[in-house]
Amino acid sequence: MLFDSFSNPALALRNRIVMAPMTRCRADHADAVPNALITGYYRQRAGAGLIISEGLPVSDRARGYLNTPALWNEAQAAGWKSVTDAVHAEGGRMFAQLWHCGRVAHAALHADGSAPAGASNKPAATQTMIPGPDGKPVAVPSGQPQALSLQEIRGVIAEFAHAAKLAMQAGFDGVEIHGANGYLLDQFRCPAVNNRNDAYGGSLANRYRLLLEIVDAVAAEVEPQRIAVRQSPYGLGNGMIADPEPLKTYPWLARELNRRNLGFLHIYCQTADWIHEAGHSMMPALRDAFHGAIIACGGFKTPPACEAILARGHADLIAIGKPFISNPDLVERLRHDAPLAKWNPAVFYAAGATGYTDYPAL
Ligand SMILES: Cc1cc2nc3c(=O)[nH]c(=O)nc-3n(C[C@H](O)[C@H](O)[C@H](O)COP(=O)(O)O)c2cc1C
Repeated sequence: MLFDSFSNPALALRNRIVMAPMTRCRADHADAVPNALITGYYRQRAGAGLIISEGLPVSDRARGYLNTPALWNEAQAAGWKSVTDAVHAEGGRMFAQLWHCGRVAHAALHADGSAPAGASNKPAATQTMIPGPDGKPVAVPSGQPQALSLQEIRGVIAEFAHAAKLAMQAGFDGVEIHGANGYLLDQFRCPAVNNRNDAYGGSLANRYRLLLEIVDAVAAEVEPQRIAVRQSPYGLGNGMIADPEPLKTYPWLARELNRRNLGFLHIYCQTADWIHEAGHSMMPALRDAFHGAIIACGGFKTPPACEAILARGHADLIAIGKPFISNPDLVERLRHDAPLAKWNPAVFYAAGATGYTDYPAL
C-alpha cells in the first residue's frame, strides 16, 4: 500500500510517502527568499509522493527563527516557483506549510522590532537564535509576547490568506496550515497559554476560532481538497501543557475540518509512541470524525511500521521527517529495503550545503 498511488478529487500522488515539513534555515534573513541551494535540496527529495515545505512564515512578525525562507511577498513567491518547477520536473508534488510562530520568537528577528505575537502575554519557556553583535547567531530566550488585539487577529487571518494566494502563484499543489508544535495556532488552542476572555478564548470553539477562520480564508484561495491542517495531539513542545481533554479536543477539530471538506488532516505524534499502538483511541476517533486523507507522522522508519497503520485504516499517508534529511532517495531505499544513512543533527539548522544537499543517493 505504501508504494501505491493516492488520489482525491483534486490531487494525485504517486506514492503514499510524504516528506514531513522541516525547517532548515538556509535562506538569507534579510529577504527570506528561497535560493538555488534550497531548490536543489527539494529537487533531490522529489521522489516523495508529496513534499510539505518547511514552515514558511506568512509575515515578518510571524518569524521565530533566523534564516527561514518565507512566503509573504512576490520575490519570495518567485523563488518558490523555481522550487516547485524543479519538484514537478521530477514528477513530485509539493505543499507550502504556512506558519506563524507567535510567541516562539524574538523582536530582534522582526524588521520593525515588533514584539512576538501572542494568544496572551504569557512568554514561552523556549530559546531561539538572533544575530549577535558580530553577526553570528546567538541563543536567547524567546521574547516577551504581546496578546494580539482583535484587529491584529484580522490581520493574521489576512496574512494566511495572502500567503495561500502566493502559494498558488508559486506553483505549489496545495498548502498546509501549521496548527501544531506550540506555534501561534497551537498557543490559541492551549488553555494554559490562552487566557483571553473574548471570542478567541475560553471554550474549545473559541480557542479553535482563529484556526478555523484561517481555514475559511485560505479556502477562498485554495481548493479545500488541496488544504491540510497539522495538529500535534498530546504534544508538549514549545511550552504546551497537556491538553485536558485530548479525545474531545482533536476529534472536535477534525469534525469541523470535515464539514469544510478539507483534503488532509496531518497528525504528528511528537513522542513517536501512541500513533504506533493499534489499541490507542486517538487515531480511530480522528478517523471517525474526518473523512479526507489522514497523514500520520512520528517515528515511521520502516515499511512494516508504515504498512501497519495504513492496514488499520487509521491513516492514508505517512509523513517521514529525519530519514529524508540524510536519504534524498528515501522512497527508493524503502522500496528496496536498502540501508538508510544516519542524519547529523548538528547541521539541521546550519548554513550551507553541509548536511543539507551533500547526502548522496544510493
Ligand atoms: C530539523 C527539523 C525541522 C523541523 N521543522 C518543522 C517545521 O518547520 N514544521 C513542522 O510542522 N514540523 C517540523 N519538524 C517536525 C517534523 O515535521 C516531523 O514531525 C518530525 O521530524 C517527526 O518525524 P520523524 O520521526 O520521521 O523525523 C521538524 C523536524 C526536524 C527534525
